[in-house]
Amino acid sequence: GGGGGFKLNSLKFDTVPPNSDDKLTVPKGFQQAVIVAWGDPIVPGAPAFNLDAQTPKAQEGQFGYNCDYVAVMPLDKDWSHERALLVVNNEYTNENNMFDGWTTGAAATVDQLKIAQAAHGLSVVEIERVGRTGRWAQRKKGSRRYNRRITATTKIQVTGPAAGHALLKTAADPSGRWVKGTIGNCSGGTTPYGTTLHGEENFNGYFEASGPVNSAYEAAFKRYGLPLAVNAGRSWARVDERWDVAKNPNEANRFGWIVELDPYDADAAPRKRTMLGRMKHEGATTTLSEDGHLVAYTGDDERFDYLYKFVSRDKYRRGHSRRDREHNLSLLDRGTLYVARFLDEQPGDTEYDGIGEWIPLTSDKESYVDGFTVAEVLINTRLAADTVGPTKMDRPEDVERNPVNGSVYIACTNNTARTPAQVDEANPRPANKDGHIIELDEAGGDAASDLFRWRIFLVCGDPTDPSTYFGGYDKTKVSPISCPDNVAFDKSGNLWISTDGNTLGSNDGFFAVPTKGAERGHVKQFLTVPAEAETCGPWITDDQRTAIVAVQHPGEGGTVAEPTSHWPFGGVPRPSVACVWKD
Ligand code: FEO
Ligand code: CA
Ligand code: CA
Ligand code: CA
Repeated sequence: GGGGGFKLNSLKFDTVPPNSDDKLTVPKGFQQAVIVAWGDPIVPGAPAFNLDAQTPKAQEGQFGYNCDYVAVMPLDKDWSHERALLVVNNEYTNENNMFDGWTTGAAATVDQLKIAQAAHGLSVVEIERVGRTGRWAQRKKGSRRYNRRITATTKIQVTGPAAGHALLKTAADPSGRWVKGTIGNCSGGTTPYGTTLHGEENFNGYFEASGPVNSAYEAAFKRYGLPLAVNAGRSWARVDERWDVAKNPNEANRFGWIVELDPYDADAAPRKRTMLGRMKHEGATTTLSEDGHLVAYTGDDERFDYLYKFVSRDKYRRGHSRRDREHNLSLLDRGTLYVARFLDEQPGDTEYDGIGEWIPLTSDKESYVDGFTVAEVLINTRLAADTVGPTKMDRPEDVERNPVNGSVYIACTNNTARTPAQVDEANPRPANKDGHIIELDEAGGDAASDLFRWRIFLVCGDPTDPSTYFGGYDKTKVSPISCPDNVAFDKSGNLWISTDGNTLGSNDGFFAVPTKGAERGHVKQFLTVPAEAETCGPWITDDQRTAIVAVQHPGEGGTVAEPTSHWPFGGVPRPSVACVWKD
């Protein structure tokens, strides 16, 4: 068993002050180490990282670029914290830091474009605890049979009500049921039956147009930020014409989904679950309703976009038989998709709190949106949601239910475009550069409820800024925090927050804050990440000994010749997953 002394959920650590150091800074007395870095060989037989000898085939067996979401899935039967699967999103690539002399996709070699495609997607890595410590490392011996890469070209099955719809069919896939690859994998979540969920977020930026796009697609493409006229994009069409929406507009409809992966079955194709709608999914996290339905929350990370919830038609089965597992693996294919409307309690109410409702958009059988079929709601979810009056949020990123207090926490990362006239109680600050976090309580504590109460938990920023709010806590005693993005919880229900885009003149970081009691709102910074990186993935291991974070895009503004970060090994920066512990 884990044993060990220090538990992170005690929150007994010395706050890390804001800084601009090019390193992973952890509290006094703590240690940190990289678990896996971009380019590390993970699939048996893959070559060691060599910046000057990259090939598409090598990258297909190596850890992907820009690690974002991280899940730690137990491998030992009794979860004694000795072996686990690290499941990681590789959201996108910074070619400027991968290839010496990089300028544009148009000027790149086709091999470079293929390497970038192979550096996208997901990585599954067997990890093990080092001795009796809180440190984790890649498992280098043994079968490593779960180690796996999913890339921008891996075969992925499309399931749920929109699978096979005309809008998902292409010349290369007349079935509309098999897509090559997943991209833009930002945040994610896990299910109670041991699968992982992965959002496809900024998929629009991967598409280009060699000419005008069929005008039938205009409204949807505008709403999703897809190109309508000549646009060079990443020039991935030089590898495969499917990325050219002038020729293949439906290919763009095959991205923007939640992907479900069974990390315990290395042969199983991942699945795009159309029932959860298509948008710039930050990620999806799950919980169970009072009577055992699976509920998934998902944010659409765009300024003025919406918060969504899915409730399964069928109930989760706790058994572990093959039939139970197959049943659970179908839960995300049938149910109801909702969008959130936040309401003021009463006219003139000045508290930043209120009630709200989940507006049903469609079930797997029946659309509730006039003019849209079930499949059309799911494929063009933003257009369907626009017609029912949901609340326009300040970029809803991670959304996750606190397993201890049952409240749902919504990280609204920022929205500098909100004008004073557009302010509402749930998005209370104009030109919101530092973001805020909303706390949402489902009616009756039931995640399947269609009504909720909500209140603002944090209004982020420099605590000397009068517009900030820290859950009512003394603002002279908190850490400055800006642009909350990903969230996680420890066993005591403390909220852990990683940031992306800190506007306060220091590096991004990772913070902990109690959600209840006298310390509610006492934000403490636990670590800072190297120059120009964002903090992602955060995970507190079950034994509360180790924090695992993904350090994404360190030194992203530099080049191979002139790096702006040398983290973690000197030379060019390498996005990496790291662990932090105290023994
Ligand atoms: Fe990829 Fe919404 O951050
Ligand atoms: Ca109110
Ligand atoms: Ca994110
Ligand atoms: Ca972000």
